[in-house]
Amino acid sequence: MSIKLSINFSNVTVDADPDMPLLWAIRDKLGLTGTKFGCGVGACGACTVHIDGVAVRSCQTPVGDVGDGKITTIEAVSGKTGAAVQQAWAEMDVVQCGYCQSGQIMQAVGLLTENPRPTAQEIEDGMWGNVCRCATYQRIRAAVARASD
Ligand code: FES
Repeated sequence: MSIKLSINFSNVTVDADPDMPLLWAIRDKLGLTGTKFGCGVGACGACTVHIDGVAVRSCQTPVGDVGDGKITTIEAVSGKTGAAVQQAWAEMDVVQCGYCQSGQIMQAVGLLTENPRPTAQEIEDGMWGNVCRCATYQRIRAAVARASD
């Protein structure tokens, strides 16, 4: 089935089963491999993208359910908040192996878009579901705080 998507400021059509997880449409159909597969059950956050600016788990989102939603992946994260998060990530030297980081950054940008001045507890709560196997959690939390207004 042909499914129309708006992704990273472009309109595209993918040939996919509507039940296919958006993650696989993004990676396999569109070749945007910055979005990662971790668990496939919504428990790790590696696959986080934005739909209309809200962070979602693309492994748990059927591609046929996206409709007119505007998808943003790590390849196109931008704007004031996106730039602030990426700069803070570099300044705090957050990344270790890097596998989870695109999901972490997408979650952080979503959090700060919704709440530009989160408390430490709000950062903890907002980032809680994004797993880092290198346990860079302190640097992630510090970078989110640095990127806040
Ligand atoms: Fe989607 Fe883990 S791969 S939450």
